[in-house]
Amino acid sequence: MAFTFFLAAVLASVVLGQTAVVTTYSTSAEPGDSNVQYTLGSSGFDAPKIDFFNATSAQWWYFDVVSTDLKQSVVISFLGNAPGASDVPAGTIPFNFIEVNIQLPNGNLVALSAAAEDITITTVGNSASGVMNGAGYSWYQAPDLANILLNFNDTVNGLSGSIQFNSDAPPHAPCGPPITGASLEIVPHLGWGNSMPDSLASVNLNYNDQPITYQGRGYHDTNWGNRAFGASINSWYWGHARLGPYSVVWFDVVDINGVEHQTGYVASNGTAIADSCGATPVRPTGANSAYPPIPGLLPTGFHIVYDMGSAGVMELNVTNYQAVVNYPGLHTRWVGSVVGGIQGQTTYTGVGLYEEMA
Ligand SMILES: *[C@@H]1O[C@H](CO)[C@@H](O)[C@H](O)[C@H]1NC(C)=O
Ligand SMILES: *[C@@H]1O[C@H](CO)[C@@H](O)[C@H](O)[C@H]1NC(C)=O
Ligand SMILES: *[C@@H]1O[C@H](CO)[C@@H](O)[C@H](O)[C@H]1NC(C)=O
Ligand SMILES: *[C@@H]1O[C@H](CO)[C@@H](O)[C@H](O)[C@H]1NC(C)=O
Repeated sequence: MAFTFFLAAVLASVVLGQTAVVTTYSTSAEPGDSNVQYTLGSSGFDAPKIDFFNATSAQWWYFDVVSTDLKQSVVISFLGNAPGASDVPAGTIPFNFIEVNIQLPNGNLVALSAAAEDITITTVGNSASGVMNGAGYSWYQAPDLANILLNFNDTVNGLSGSIQFNSDAPPHAPCGPPITGASLEIVPHLGWGNSMPDSLASVNLNYNDQPITYQGRGYHDTNWGNRAFGASINSWYWGHARLGPYSVVWFDVVDINGVEHQTGYVASNGTAIADSCGATPVRPTGANSAYPPIPGLLPTGFHIVYDMGSAGVMELNVTNYQAVVNYPGLHTRWVGSVVGGIQGQTTYTGVGLYEEMA
C-alpha cells in the first residue's frame, strides 16, 4: 500500500521529465550537524543547501521591488531559523519568521512581521518554490528561474495580493557563472545564491483596504550559513540597480577577520557581461562617509567601481532617496537614484535598492 502510494507520488511528480523534490524545515531546531553546501552541485541553482536547521544553521529567502520613481518599494524576507541567523535566544523571535517592509507613495513606512509554522520548499529544475505554512505567504519559482509569483494572504496583518517578477538578468554565483562546482560562499560560513539579479516586477497588493499597485525593478536572492550571520561578517554593502540596459549587483563584505570580499555582476540587455570577485570596491560618499563604516553614521550615497576587464569599467554613483529600513547602528536599507555606465561610453540614470550593515 505504502509502496503504491510512493510510486504514484513519484510518477505524478515526474512532469515534463523534471522530478519535484520536497524539503520540509521544522518549526524548531533539530539536534545534530546540518549538512550545508557552499558549492553548486547537480541539484539545481536554488535547491535547498541545508538538509535541516539545527540551532545555528539558517537560511533566508529575500525579495524586493523598487518603483522607477523611487516613491514605492517593498521588501519581503522569509527567514528559516531566525533566532539562529541573528544569534538571539530561541523564543525571542519566531523560529520561522516573515518580515515585510513597505514604502508607501506618501513617504510612510509600514513594517509587518509574521510567524510561520514549518516551511515547505519544492525544487523542480533550478527552482525553489516555498510555503511559509500557517502564515499566508508562499512563492512559486519557474524551473528555469524566468519568473516568480509571490502570494500574500496574511489575514492577521491585513496584507493580500501578489507580486509577479519576470527576470531580466540570468543567475550568477558569487565569483562567476552558475556552473556545477562554482563556489557559493560569499565569506566563510555564509552562502549566497542570486537567481534573479534584476526583473520587471508587477506589484498588486492590498494593505488594510488600501491598494498598492505599480511596476518596478525586482530582485531575489538567498543566504544561508551554519552559524549566526553576525559571527561571519563585520559589515557589508550590498545592492542592485537598473540603469539603461544595465542590471548591476554589488556585494562588498568585510568578514569577521577584517578581510574584504568584493563581488560584482553586470548584465546588459539581459545577457551577463561580467561576473567576478575582487574587483568591485563599494565606498560610502557624502557626509558620514567613513570607511570601514562606523555603526550609526549614515552616508548620503555610494560610489561603485567594477573593473570588468575586457568589458570595461562600470562606474556608478548612487544617491539615497529614502531609508526604507533603519535599525540604527546595525542595518540600513535605502532606495536611491543611480547615475553611471561603462567609463567612456553612454551615461545612464536609473534606480537602486541597497543596504549597509555595520
Ligand atoms: C550545526 O551544524 C553545523 C555543521 O553544518 C555545526 O558546525 C554546528 O556546530 C551545528 N550547531 C549546533 C548547535 O549543533
Ligand atoms: C486566505 O486565508 C484565509 C484564512 O486562512 C482563508 O479563509 C482564505 O480562503 C484565504 N484566501 C485565499 C485567496 O487563499
Ligand atoms: C540594448 O537593446 C536595445 C534595444 O534592442 C538596443 O537599442 C541597444 O543598443 C542595446 N544596448 C546594448 C548596450 O546592448
Ligand atoms: C561620481 O561622482 C564623482 C565625484 O563627484 C565624480 O568624479 C564621477 O565623475 C562620478 N561618476 C559618474 C559615473 O557619475
